[in-house]
Amino acid sequence: DNSVAFAGEHQAGIVTPAQDRLHFVAFDVITKDRARLISLLRDWAAAAARMTAGRDAGEIGAVNGVPEAPPDDTGEALGLPPANLTITVGFGRTLFRDADGKDRFGIAAQLPPALDELPHFPGDVLDAALSGGDLCVQACADDPQVAVHAIRNLARIGMGVVSVRWSQLGFGRTSSTSTAQATPRNLFGFKDGTANLKLEETSLLKEHLWVQPQDGPAWMTGGAYLVTRKIRMIIETWDRSSLAEQESIVGRHKGTGAPLGRTAEFDEPDPAALPEGSHVRLAHPSLNGGARLLRRGYNFVDGSDGLGRLDAGLFFMAYQRDPRKQFVPIQRNLARHDEMNEYLKAVSLGLFACPPGVSDAGDFWGSALL
Ligand code: HEM
Repeated sequence: DNSVAFAGEHQAGIVTPAQDRLHFVAFDVITKDRARLISLLRDWAAAAARMTAGRDAGEIGAVNGVPEAPPDDTGEALGLPPANLTITVGFGRTLFRDADGKDRFGIAAQLPPALDELPHFPGDVLDAALSGGDLCVQACADDPQVAVHAIRNLARIGMGVVSVRWSQLGFGRTSSTSTAQATPRNLFGFKDGTANLKLEETSLLKEHLWVQPQDGPAWMTGGAYLVTRKIRMIIETWDRSSLAEQESIVGRHKGTGAPLGRTAEFDEPDPAALPEGSHVRLAHPSLNGGARLLRRGYNFVDGSDGLGRLDAGLFFMAYQRDPRKQFVPIQRNLARHDEMNEYLKAVSLGLFACPPGVSDAGDFWGSALL
């Protein structure tokens, strides 16, 4: 059966082999009542456990309830398999403190320093309405309807407690998170995810992905921080650049994915041998204090932009142990020097603390926080 275990030490949907489809949503919490927030998280966890097992969101189901009441599942996933659905939850900084610094739910003292506001990056003109959020939910599945069904039902359950701030659909994974997966391609046509952190690299995951006991705060041990960045790709301009130019911008061969000058995809890149402004050179750990990321992004095409161009790009998602030491230095380096920037426009930015896994029935995300 193609289902992923919901409970565990770490949340599913991080090192889980990246599924094909994404529906991501950021919520604002609209209640002031801590008890209502807790009970929502508990209801969400129960619904998520059922849906990841291929069942209806509620105990009764889409069509077995009384005719007089709205069903406790919306029904569009009836008959569909679990499709490796995972549901991953994170907390934004604004859940701890609002814009005026007010402690909204009595948890401000538990705000992780690693959840600090991200700095401004040169070149960024971000849309605040598409950025941030108090809570996020990442639903990944191999069937788009299964992912959408999950988000839709969590939003339905959350009515009156949370409201949708922004959301994003992704139609194709742009990363591998397991050595068993073939590397997919992004919308520039290049293999993406070759040098990613992978599920099998357990000691690297300890070093670069999972929050360790000494990192603090205690409620985040076994969790990870997620950075989301919606990046529009100006593909019409890219498509007019030569193959040689494209390869020199990325620093890898388009066909094989091998580093320029090498022959096989997994040959080690030598930053000194790559073009100075190439993406792979600038993102390489050796130029960023050893920093690595678990990238888990998705391609998107949100229709067209009214100017005759596709509204296409990469919804970048990266999990890590501490964004101050990982995403921030890498992004700073890319923002200043990456030749790919000519073809990119960042639209949104989000940072979320994803707590460790949910242990059993009745447990919920952040039970050690709230
Ligand atoms: C590697 C594309 C944005 C960090 C790569 C590779 C490609 C690529 C084709 C080489 C294959 C691989 O090793 O996975 C893109 C595109 C982007 C984008 C099209 C934007 C639309 C970013 C951002 C970051 C980032 C925002 C982080 C701030 C990395 C890292 C590597 C990488 C760490 C691996 C470098 C190495 O260790 O060799 N990217 N990327 N990328 N990218 Fe990106």
